[in-house]
Amino acid sequence: MPRYLVTGCAGFIGSTLTDALLADGCEIVGVDAFTEYYDRAAKDAALAGARDHPSFTLLEHDLASDPIPDDALEGLDGVFHLAARPGVRASWGAGFEAYVSDNILATHAVADAAGAGGLRLVFASSSSIYGNALAYPTSEDTPPSPISPYGVTKLACEHLLAAHARDSGLDHVALRYFTVYGPRQRPDMAFSRIVAALVTGGEFEIYGDGSQSRDFTFVADAVAATIAAMSEAPAGATYNVGGGSEAALRDVVALVEELGGRSLDVRYGERAAGDVKRTLADTARVRSELGWEPRTDLRAGLAAQLDAAGALASSAG
Ligand code: NAD
Ligand code: UGA
Repeated sequence: MPRYLVTGCAGFIGSTLTDALLADGCEIVGVDAFTEYYDRAAKDAALAGARDHPSFTLLEHDLASDPIPDDALEGLDGVFHLAARPGVRASWGAGFEAYVSDNILATHAVADAAGAGGLRLVFASSSSIYGNALAYPTSEDTPPSPISPYGVTKLACEHLLAAHARDSGLDHVALRYFTVYGPRQRPDMAFSRIVAALVTGGEFEIYGDGSQSRDFTFVADAVAATIAAMSEAPAGATYNVGGGSEAALRDVVALVEELGGRSLDVRYGERAAGDVKRTLADTARVRSELGWEPRTDLRAGLAAQLDAAGALASSAG
């Protein structure tokens, strides 16, 4: 039975990954600090199934402040590193310190641990490293040009892992996820807020004119690429993980209204600092080298997210 460390195991993508690995028969040591970026109750709920599983052990631990205890690393076959301070908008101003800590310092500690154990490290990077990309669709060879402090920390983490690899042979793979959505999505992200507005009848504020678009990726697809990267990727590889469902935010709002069977109270506000205009992944590399392809389109994925929130209209089922 393979045994893996999953950092950020209580988070949106990390808990979904943990559940998938446990269902595959893996043993999991999950690490999470339950940071205050959003409500702990959501993380406890996301982790509830795993906590009841006999092959799961939870280590509540801050990766940025203390080394991972040796016993958590015993007998491991690899490390999935998803713990981070996510989110583009909160990374400006005084918020940046936590990004340096939870992203750069934590990744350095995880790289030390994985390197010492001779373990593969699969790292959750981000489309935000491309900024307003120099080419669309954006291939992994496109020069990075982040426009947010968050994007800068994720790019720094990629460079940090590459430095560990060059110096001491760390076996690592970087996955650049493109805006991931689905059940358990973080409460600061657009789809969560749209669904919350649908459920409560509250307002959804669009930052800017709503023409910004994303290559939205369903969480189960992101998780499948992550698992494939552990076993299939060549050492040092970098992959875009994009769902192939590019849509403008205002078209997402219209789709949610259709699936939810009611209209939303939408307000238009200021563009958010650090917000890119467009993302679109070139996924040729991940398709050919990992045999991965996205399986869930935006309509089906949004229906799943609405369904999990009890907000899917009966006519949309
Ligand atoms: P999330 O906030 O739901 O999960 C991250 C988890 O890491 C949280 O549970 C948090 O408590 C934990 N954590 C943070 N700092 C820690 C520390 N110092 N020590 C231990 N645990 C710590 O975020 P998510 O949306 O699931 O994102 C997971 C990863 O994927 C992150 O690395 C993020 O940057 C990356 N990513 C996410 C998206 C997306 O669209 N959600 C896109 C690109 C990249
Ligand atoms: C998402 C994640 O939040 C980041 O952690 C991740 O690194 C990034 O994807 C990525 O792909 O790398 P983002 O694309 O900003 O970042 O995702 P959302 O937070 O869901 O926002 C999508 C769009 O909706 C953005 O243009 C944002 O400005 C907008 N939005 C968001 C609103 O208009 N209103 C809101 O209340 C929230």
